[in-house]
Amino acid sequence: MKDGNPAQQFTHDPTLPGGKDVICEIRDGIAFVSLNRPEKRNCISPGIVNDANAILDALEKDDRAKVVVITGSGDSFSAGQDLKEYFREPAKWHPVDRERLHYNNSRWQWRKLLYYGKPTIAMVNGWCFGGAFQVLVGCDIAVTADESSFGMSEINWGIIPAGIVTKSATYTMTPRKAMYYIISGDTFSGKEAEQYGLVTFSVPADQLMEKVKSIAANLMKKNPHVLRSCKVAYHYVRDMSWDMAGEYLSAKSDQNKFTDPEAGAAKGMTQFLDEKSYRPGLGAYDRTK
Ligand code: COA
Repeated sequence: MKDGNPAQQFTHDPTLPGGKDVICEIRDGIAFVSLNRPEKRNCISPGIVNDANAILDALEKDDRAKVVVITGSGDSFSAGQDLKEYFREPAKWHPVDRERLHYNNSRWQWRKLLYYGKPTIAMVNGWCFGGAFQVLVGCDIAVTADESSFGMSEINWGIIPAGIVTKSATYTMTPRKAMYYIISGDTFSGKEAEQYGLVTFSVPADQLMEKVKSIAANLMKKNPHVLRSCKVAYHYVRDMSWDMAGEYLSAKSDQNKFTDPEAGAAKGMTQFLDEKSYRPGLGAYDRTK
């Protein structure tokens, strides 16, 4: 039991896949995708891998879901990969089946999430270990309770933080802190996770849901087509030279203007320059006009 974290429970929308190891409830435009093995601290089993892939695939096409929040049932976000069901038992499988499990896991945790068609928020409500870092970094935004505990515990049981855990830590955390926590396996709090850059915000546990809802409400006002291009560009330019990034962003920007179904840039300019109905520095243009 993680002290200070209220237990969370969601219901499952029967029109969506999953419903056992991962459940999903859609409320006011937000799809809450909850890892649902609270008695196992939501450690990631093949069942979670299958349900999470199926639910994320379905939500990407579901107009009710404007923002996707990934969280955990009970008092944990996730205790990382399941040592029994993800590591020990698959070690006896045919290597091809084991490879497929690992690929399908990487698919939902970061390959798909990094470029997901909708904004994503990790809502971290308690323990967050090892493989769960991959989901954190896969999501566009991560919000945690101050009371949560984070750790790359792999070294504590004799492996390196593989999958994409080490890359996830070096992608977000300050270099000294990433190295320290990779080699020590120590835990750190939600507040520290915010200071080290691993999460976007840390708030007291009783404010976690409200914080996530207010971020989601703000994201829902933005042009969804442009928002997706922004996040895709963010990830691509990190591995490019300055010259390549300049060229790519210029081409991506042109692409956006031609493919944006609501021609947002023209609306934004008209509403600011001609109608003087809003200020772009302080909020988004009115998408309903
Ligand atoms: N893999 C497999 N089983 C796990 C697990 C994991 N990553 N994390 C928790 N569980 C299981 C426990 O074995 C236990 O099962 P049981 O009830 O059948 O005995 C159950 O979940 C509850 O765990 P428990 O350790 O009793 O809960 P706790 O609240 O006292 O401690 C943790 C929570 C997260 C600190 C502790 O479970 C833990 O250290 N888990 C492993 C974390 C880890 O190293 N993850 C990285 C994997 S790469």
